[in-house]
Amino acid sequence: VASPSGDTEGAGRPRTTRRTFVGGGLLALGASAGAGAAHAWGGDSTQPEPPEPPAGEMERPFHGERQAGVAEDPPPWSTLVAFDLTEGADRERVRRVMRIWTDDIRRLMSGRGTLTDQEPELAARTSGLTVTVGWGPRLFEVAGLDDVRPHWAKPLPEFEHEDLDPAYSGGDLVLQISAYSPVTVAHAQRQLTTSAVGIATPRWVQPGFREPMEYHGWSMRNLFGQVDGTVQPRFRGADADLVWIGPDGPAGWQHGSSMVVRRIAMDLDGWDRVGRTGRENAIGRKLHDGAPLTGGTTDTPVDLSATGDNGLPVVDGAAHVRRAAATTRQEQFLRRPYTYQDVVGSVVRTGLVFVTYQADPVRQFVPVQRRLAEADLMNLWTTPVGSAVFAVLPGCASGRYLGQDLLG
Ligand code: HEM
Repeated sequence: VASPSGDTEGAGRPRTTRRTFVGGGLLALGASAGAGAAHAWGGDSTQPEPPEPPAGEMERPFHGERQAGVAEDPPPWSTLVAFDLTEGADRERVRRVMRIWTDDIRRLMSGRGTLTDQEPELAARTSGLTVTVGWGPRLFEVAGLDDVRPHWAKPLPEFEHEDLDPAYSGGDLVLQISAYSPVTVAHAQRQLTTSAVGIATPRWVQPGFREPMEYHGWSMRNLFGQVDGTVQPRFRGADADLVWIGPDGPAGWQHGSSMVVRRIAMDLDGWDRVGRTGRENAIGRKLHDGAPLTGGTTDTPVDLSATGDNGLPVVDGAAHVRRAAATTRQEQFLRRPYTYQDVVGSVVRTGLVFVTYQADPVRQFVPVQRRLAEADLMNLWTTPVGSAVFAVLPGCASGRYLGQDLLG
């Protein structure tokens, strides 16, 4: 079984808690389904993977150089919660919330309730829970931490073709809570939100869902019906430096990352009016299996130079994959999108909670977003309505708390 994006580190392999192999078959198949997305910068290594435990019993390790929730296989449920620090917040308050959250997350990821948990039974099934913590730009000012602020910890520049709603943008802190059960996510969300009362209040909450790994592996079908998430850097192997901050990055941030969140509305009614050929041209890939229009299977690289019998390019000049394709090695990032479907009364709003991880968003993400904003056929049906950038903290060792070294 090949691993997504050339797994050479065994990152993201869950720890089995109880019954090891029972029921693991489907998930193990999932690992093969998403295997080996090819990308422009090299081939994939293949490596056998052990079968996964049942989803409810997966336990992701909390302690480590890097936080969990980035490189692991994305589970079907994920909620992002951005918080604003309360009036008068200072470094001590940030310390306090980081200490509390670290203890909470450590407990929840290992199947225990938090210290103040009134429903610890809801934590008993770990369901592969991961909680990833990041700091927004304003936190550095509030906590007097400008000396350790990565230069890219600021809002993205403005782009053409976006209609940002402050209600879905920004934030001083973020939690990405992902699991194989929506109950696990909801419980962790509530516990962590309650723990922060008086220090940080939710600014926005964006719940998302995606298909189980056994369908398309790391990719998923979004609600346009497209296979989404195929081309990725080899984030567990040779391209790990594109996702994780290295020794040459901002001081104190080695093994951290950055999280860009773009909330992108999708016009499903407009998309319904487009024929299959138009839809496939807009992306440059087939709907049936996500294979490039230039031939092959899902994992075949797109041949952007291919021309048809008429001498014209097979992939349209403004097709999404042409405009999004990296033109340098640096222009790559890990995409971890989830579908959102918000229902208020009878009104349904649909789109992507488009989350990316990269060592430096200004160098890696911005040039691609700029090209897409300038010209991308998908812009006919998609509009970014929210935007945020967070610095993802390095992981922490047992007995320490997240951000401890930075907080001094
Ligand atoms: C609702 C909005 C979007 C939809 C529905 C969408 C959908 C897709 C689909 C179906 C693919 C082809 C399969 C794949 O490789 O994943 C793709 C590729 C890609 N998308 Fe998007 N996308 C959206 C927004 C964005 C944004 C905002 C960015 C970055 C700023 C982006 C960056 C990419 C990249 C880098 C690729 C791979 C390109 C390559 O072939 O090298 N996408 N997207």
